Amino acid sequence: MQFTSSSIGRKILMAITGQAMVLFAVVHLLGNSSIFGWLNGGINAYAEHLHSLPLPIIIGFRLALLALVCVHIWFGIQLTLENRDARTKQYAVKSTQKTTFASENMIWTGSLIALFIVYHLAHFTFQVVNPETAALKNLVPLHNEMVPNVLGMVVAGFKNFFITFIYAGAMVALFLHLSHGIQSFFQTMGWSNDRSQPIIIRLGTLVALGLFLGYVIIPLTVFAGILKG
Ligand code: HEM
Repeated sequence: MQFTSSSIGRKILMAITGQAMVLFAVVHLLGNSSIFGWLNGGINAYAEHLHSLPLPIIIGFRLALLALVCVHIWFGIQLTLENRDARTKQYAVKSTQKTTFASENMIWTGSLIALFIVYHLAHFTFQVVNPETAALKNLVPLHNEMVPNVLGMVVAGFKNFFITFIYAGAMVALFLHLSHGIQSFFQTMGWSNDRSQPIIIRLGTLVALGLFLGYVIIPLTVFAGILKG
């Protein structure tokens, strides 16, 4: 594959925005894991901590996250179209880069994750999927105050087979996307060589697997009746 200087710029922007989102996914997972009780008050206390941050910080963080997602998607679509166009033209030198199912389907796994995020925001942030179990409508006591019942909302959601299925499917897409995306980041930044490449590929897959297992365990343990509200 041949890259022009503008497509290298796009690849670097994609790599950086992608890794910033991986960082978000790690922090979000650590926060969500409070559902297993390591934080006094569990996920309700964690959500309360987040919502007690100053409003400009919350809004600024959300806008920054939205900007990252938009840049990543915009350049992702452009690069995919560019790669397709290049494939239809004859090159004198053929690419020797190995392709995998994950690398060949980045646009599709990325699209599934984008659809999932829209659904996920409707579910847990705007709380319109199951309005009767919305955390904001069901307050519970925590440390002498009444707070939204995020635990009740999450557990009620994952008792439903279809919701659990959507989350588990989206986490498979996330695993595939990141198992290629993380190692691709190092390659794009020029931080890998023939010796380090196999290690980076394994580490990338390991991080993607860790995120997959960490995220999927929440809906699955609720659905199996192990994690209760
Ligand atoms: C089982 C898996 C997950 C659970 C239980 C979960 C839980 C939650 C909850 C409860 C909220 C609302 C936080 C609040 O405003 O109080 C939230 C927001 C959010 N989640 Fe997740 N989440 C999961 C997976 C994911 C994944 C895989 C992603 C994307 C990589 C993601 C991205 C987001 C985003 C972007 C927000 C909005 C953040 C904000 O409001 O500032 N979530 N999630």
